[in-house]
Amino acid sequence: MIGLLFTFVSDMKEHILVIGANGQIGGELVEELRKIHGSSYVIATDIKDAGAELKSGGPFRQLDVLDHASVFELIKENKVREVYLLAALLSATAESKIRSAWKLNMEGLFGLLEMARQENFKLFWPSSIAVFGPGTPRQNTPQHTITEPSTVYGISKLAGERWCEYYHKMFGTDVRSIRYPGLIGYKTEPGGGTTDYAVSIFHNAIRNKQYECYLSAGTALPMMYMPDAIRATLELMNADSSKLSIRSSYNIDGMSFTPEQIAGEIKLLMPDFRISYKPDIRQQYADSWPQSIDGSVARNDWGWTPRYDIKSMCKEMFQGVQQLITSH
Ligand code: SER
Repeated sequence: MIGLLFTFVSDMKEHILVIGANGQIGGELVEELRKIHGSSYVIATDIKDAGAELKSGGPFRQLDVLDHASVFELIKENKVREVYLLAALLSATAESKIRSAWKLNMEGLFGLLEMARQENFKLFWPSSIAVFGPGTPRQNTPQHTITEPSTVYGISKLAGERWCEYYHKMFGTDVRSIRYPGLIGYKTEPGGGTTDYAVSIFHNAIRNKQYECYLSAGTALPMMYMPDAIRATLELMNADSSKLSIRSSYNIDGMSFTPEQIAGEIKLLMPDFRISYKPDIRQQYADSWPQSIDGSVARNDWGWTPRYDIKSMCKEMFQGVQQLITSH
């Protein structure tokens, strides 16, 4: 059936490929891309089998990004013109699996850069605020500054940025990237990140009216609501290539808050909500990252502007998670 589907669609217009479609960004990105381009033109892949929604919404293929030969075949057969490479291990998971994190995060990118060089498709690859480190200025962190990451995840993202810039400079590869801040959404679950508390807090508030946070009350981090992150990704991918001065990865600014501040917002919606704090190892990762980001280069180059602040994000998240929980 899948074979038939792929042969059928390959006769038609060019396709978009999302690798890592089951992940926090992947799920929402596939949904949006399918709305824009038509569901049959967006091929979703992941190493794990997908849920019914992703599968019924358009083509899905279970595929390991490290199986470069199969990925390349899929790209060629379907005349893929745009690839979103989202398969990666995030900060907390990467620390407990350092070799496999390096392998997945680096070899995945390296393989796709090579394929993009040969087949000339446009490649999106996410970087992170984790490229910064303890020596980086933490307020309004500039685009160009000290990048000395202290996590495996951050090291892999920084190395990836250098490779992206190299491929663009040496081979003209059209690779584009964003240093995502912590991402908050209710449609798909995050996994293995340090900033994930800002999603879990809503689920715990609605289920149990309480949350034990693994970061301390005053830990400020840059964050972004998923609709802004998806829009940023698509705006960057649609921007005129000649306007892009950064081929490593763009800083983008969203909101910044502490666990105490987000708990305060949730209390306005649920007055009996309670938060407690029990910092674990993830506190160290958070302490090495910026508190707020200067996104002025993205603003100047391709017109980036965030739309959500902590209040509007909290209101939508609260309602979204509430609906999700009551409908299950
Ligand atoms: N959200 C990521 C993490 O916490 C940072 O990019 O790992």
